[in-house]
Amino acid sequence: MLVLGIETSCDETGVALYDTEQGLLADALYSQVELHAEFGGVVPELASRDHLRKLVPLVHQVMQQAQRPLSDLNAIAYTAGPGLIGALMTGSCMARALALALGIPALAVHHMEGHLLAPLLDKAPPAFPFVALLVSGGHTQLIQVEAIGRYQLLGESVDDAAGEAFDKTAKLLQLGYPGGPRLAALAQQGTPHRFAFPRPMTNRPGLDLSFSGLKTHTLTCIRELEAANTLDEQAKADVAWAFQDAVVDTLTIKCKRALKHTGYTRLVVAGGVSANLALRQRLDQLLQGMGGEVFYPALAYCTDNGAMIALAGALRLAAGEQDASPPPALRPRWP
Ligand code: KG4
Ligand code: ZN
Repeated sequence: MLVLGIETSCDETGVALYDTEQGLLADALYSQVELHAEFGGVVPELASRDHLRKLVPLVHQVMQQAQRPLSDLNAIAYTAGPGLIGALMTGSCMARALALALGIPALAVHHMEGHLLAPLLDKAPPAFPFVALLVSGGHTQLIQVEAIGRYQLLGESVDDAAGEAFDKTAKLLQLGYPGGPRLAALAQQGTPHRFAFPRPMTNRPGLDLSFSGLKTHTLTCIRELEAANTLDEQAKADVAWAFQDAVVDTLTIKCKRALKHTGYTRLVVAGGVSANLALRQRLDQLLQGMGGEVFYPALAYCTDNGAMIALAGALRLAAGEQDASPPPALRPRWP
């Protein structure tokens, strides 16, 4: 079965074509990063307008790349939430109009299910069951994954998501937008252990997380350095190192706990922050020590993309899911 996937929840227009026999056939991504950079963050109305401009050309592009006509499609999957409402509307209108014209199902996909399943795009995908750590700009969640569609939330951030904390901390260090990858790059120049940052919510039981305190801790640290007139480039890198180490350490502690709690030996890490190399190193070490295995999406599929939505739709279609009638509402917030 051939499924077109459309992702427009935030600032990337992603379109891809997934075949249940042959895997990913074509994939196109347009990032709006430059459009939003001068505003220091995503401007929702600009995002929607730009998705509108890019959607039709990108659909043509993937069909041409795979050399398949639209009439070969068996379904169209689109992100129905969570995300920016206007941006979600552009992708869902495109998907549902095209599906209606072709007489095929339009499947509403949860953006985080897309992230969660992204490692299954790999040639050596993880087997079920596994624990998933989803770390994106909007979510930080630990999920017990028994099978496709059988997910149990084990814990999540009670405030900022890990990616959001990276972005906000990068802003405090005046690193510009998008902040996460820039902060990670700066941390590589940092002196280890010059500053000691807390590991929030690790000294009590449970799998919930919290990251807003780390951002405040960074602010206090920066103010002290400024007051002492010692906030130079090296000091900024040292702060970045300490912040990243605290996030990575906290996530590692919670992953270990989630694996022990479930008795599972496989960990899947996905979402934008799963591109972080320091996090990958620590989780590799953890799973090696526990005799388990850790799986990440290829770097291109860590952040938002259409391939993960096409895959999630294809797996749902193969599991018997049909077009919902009336179509489900878009959900900017979707637990
Ligand atoms: O999954 P994603 O593309 O979008 C959401 O669904 O939110 O994740 C984007 C988030 C941003 O907060 C970005 O700063 C963060 O992922 N991110 C990183 C890295 N690459 C992306 N954070 C830390 N280190 C990175 N290398
Ligand atoms: Zn995402």
